Amino acid sequence: TWTMRSFVESSIEAVRDKVGRDRVLCALSGGVDSSVVAVLLHKAIGDQLQCIFVNNGLLRKGEAETVERVFRDHFEINLVTVDATDLFLGRLQGVTDPEQKRKIIGNLFIEVFEKEAAKLEGTRYLAQGTLYPDVIESVSFKGPSATIKTHHNVGGLPERMQLELIEPLRELFKDEVRMVGRELGLPERIIMRHPFPGPGLAIRIIGEVTPERLRILREADAIVLEELEAANWYDRVWQAFAVLLPVRSVGVMGDERTYEQVVALRAVESVDAMTADWARMPYQLMARISNRIINEVAGVNRVVYDISSKPPSTIEWE
Ligand code: XMP
Repeated sequence: TWTMRSFVESSIEAVRDKVGRDRVLCALSGGVDSSVVAVLLHKAIGDQLQCIFVNNGLLRKGEAETVERVFRDHFEINLVTVDATDLFLGRLQGVTDPEQKRKIIGNLFIEVFEKEAAKLEGTRYLAQGTLYPDVIESVSFKGPSATIKTHHNVGGLPERMQLELIEPLRELFKDEVRMVGRELGLPERIIMRHPFPGPGLAIRIIGEVTPERLRILREADAIVLEELEAANWYDRVWQAFAVLLPVRSVGVMGDERTYEQVVALRAVESVDAMTADWARMPYQLMARISNRIINEVAGVNRVVYDISSKPPSTIEWE
């Protein structure tokens, strides 16, 4: 549209004016906001932009590969990917408390990001995908979830690293960011992506995060998304995902007794994540998801559906 095109054009000019010949760093997560920022900045300053993607080992199936394919191969953006899986999983060993998990993951992210950034000389700016709602929220009020769960972004980074911020999306709402993304030619899959929490699968594994439990959740989660897309339900829900519970249940396979793990399916409708209602998905779809998870994911013999709304529950289980 005309408005989006002129927004893109004026943003590009503003970034060029501000940055001059300096270098800009961008923490790419693969989510909508940081993706739009990266492509917008690349349009404006090309090779003066350096993106860093930290693989914390808590991502969904194929996520790291997708980021590399889209941003490095397709858009030809300078991208450093750091595989910090062992570091994150090592520090999470034995940790079961949700806020403890968040703190460890948030601090480790900053640590890894700073270390990578230090290798890149002459950087003066940090680009962030701050949106208008983030701006108001931090100034005038805190949404309930912000105080109940300590959501982390890259907050704190710019000051510690003495970088100046560039926030081209500061005046936009989410739907406008999506329009800008379309204008910039980002794939629809990225533009319409469900929100994914910074701490990733760690807060969807209730209890301790281990490589084996990550494998189970990652496979189950991929099935949920595949089936939602196949049934044209992906765009109808705010978020949909699998949660791995810390209980085992008895089942039967052939003549054998099984004693295995339980996966909870969570799908919600929402407009801003402050309130949410469980999605009335078709039984057929739920049945397919359940059958596939139990048949295809070794170690799971039961799937349950979460029918609680927010409040009093939250969207995530941790
Ligand atoms: P809750 O579970 O509080 O989630 O209803 C509201 C929205 O925030 C996401 N969420 C997080 N995002 N870091 C994030 O970046 C976090 O620690 C975090 N915890 C929850 C959640 O996925 C939902 O979209």
